[in-house]
Amino acid sequence: MDAPVDLRSDFLTRPTPAMQAAMAAAAAAPAHFGLREDPRQQALERRAADLLGMEDALLFPTCTMANEVALMLLTTPGDLVLAPPRPHVVTSEAGAPAALAGVAVVELSGDGACPPAAAWHEAAGAVHDELKPRVAALVLENTHNRSGGLPVNVAGTQGVIAVARAKGLRAHLDGSRLFNAAVACRVTPGALCEGFDTVAISLNKGLGAPLGAMLAGSSALIARAIVLRQRLGGGIRPTGIVSAAGLVALDDWAHLSDDHDRARSLALGLAGLRGVRVDIDAVRTNIVVATITVDDAPAGNACARLASHGVLALPFGTGRLRLVTYRGIGDDDIARAVAAFRAAFT
Ligand SMILES: Cc1ncc(COP(=O)(O)O)c(C=O)c1O
Repeated sequence: MDAPVDLRSDFLTRPTPAMQAAMAAAAAAPAHFGLREDPRQQALERRAADLLGMEDALLFPTCTMANEVALMLLTTPGDLVLAPPRPHVVTSEAGAPAALAGVAVVELSGDGACPPAAAWHEAAGAVHDELKPRVAALVLENTHNRSGGLPVNVAGTQGVIAVARAKGLRAHLDGSRLFNAAVACRVTPGALCEGFDTVAISLNKGLGAPLGAMLAGSSALIARAIVLRQRLGGGIRPTGIVSAAGLVALDDWAHLSDDHDRARSLALGLAGLRGVRVDIDAVRTNIVVATITVDDAPAGNACARLASHGVLALPFGTGRLRLVTYRGIGDDDIARAVAAFRAAFT
C-alpha cells in the first residue's frame, strides 16, 4: 500500500539534495566550541539579518523559543501584549508568554490575519493608568496560521507599525512562514519586517531545513537574546550541520509558489465535493482549511476517516481540518487527497 499523503504540516518537508550535501560537508569539517563561533552559523546569521533588514540575527532550535525570547526582550513581567486572534504564541506555545515572560496576551477580535489599525489603536488604550497593566508590545503573525495561512501585506504591516510608533509599543513579528507571505504578496521578506523590533522565522517548514529558526533584531537586542536563549537551554552546539542546511534554505524559497499553487488546486478540488466546504479566497499560501459538513464527522473523527483513505490532516476546531502543502507533495498527492475526501465524506 502507498504511504499516506501527509498534509498535517510543512515541517514534514525533507531536506533537498543540496542541503544534504551541505550538511555532509559540515559533518566532515571541524566542530567549533563557542556559541557563535562556527563560520557556517556566522554566515547564516549574517544572511538572515540581511534578508530581514535587521542589524543582527541569532540561530534558535525552534521558532517557539525565538518568539518567547522576543517577548522576554520587549516586555517586563506584568505587561500586556496585543495580538491578532488565535496567535501561535497563545494557541501552541504551552502558556509560555505567561510562564516565561510574565505577560498576558490580549487577542484582538475578528476572523482575518490582521485586525484593522483602528482595533490595535483602541486596544492599546489612551493614557497610561497606573492601576492597570501596561500595554507594552504587539505581535503580528505573518502568515497567520489559524486563519489558514493568510498573508499580511505591506500596507497591513505598516498600519500596525504606525500604531506601535504612535502608542510607544514594541513590535514582534512571528514570521514562522514569512517567506510564504513574501511570495504571496510579491515583496521581499525584508519589506514585511520594516519597523518591527524583532522578527522570528522558521528554517524548517516550507524552507525545508531539518530544524532551526532565527531571531533578528538590533545588535543590542540580539546580544541580550544570546543570554535568554542560553537560559532556556537553546544554545545548541555544535551548529555547523544545522547552519549549513539553514544557509541553503535561505537561498532557496522561490519554490514556495508551487506549494501555494498546489494548495489552491486542492481547495478547488475539495470545493467541488458535497460534504466539504472550503473558502477558496482564503487560500492564499500553503494552508487549506476544510470544514466537514457531514453531521457525524466532527474534526477528530473526520481525521480518522480521512486517514483510513490514506490522507493525514490536522484537526483544526469543530468540524475543521488543516491541510498543508510543501515540497514533496506533488500533483498526484493532491489528486489522491481529493479522492480520499470524496470517498470519506460524500
Ligand atoms: C505561526 C507559527 N509560529 C511559530 C511556530 C513555532 O515553530 P516551531 O515548531 O519551530 O517551534 C509555528 C509552528 O507551526 C507557527 O505556525
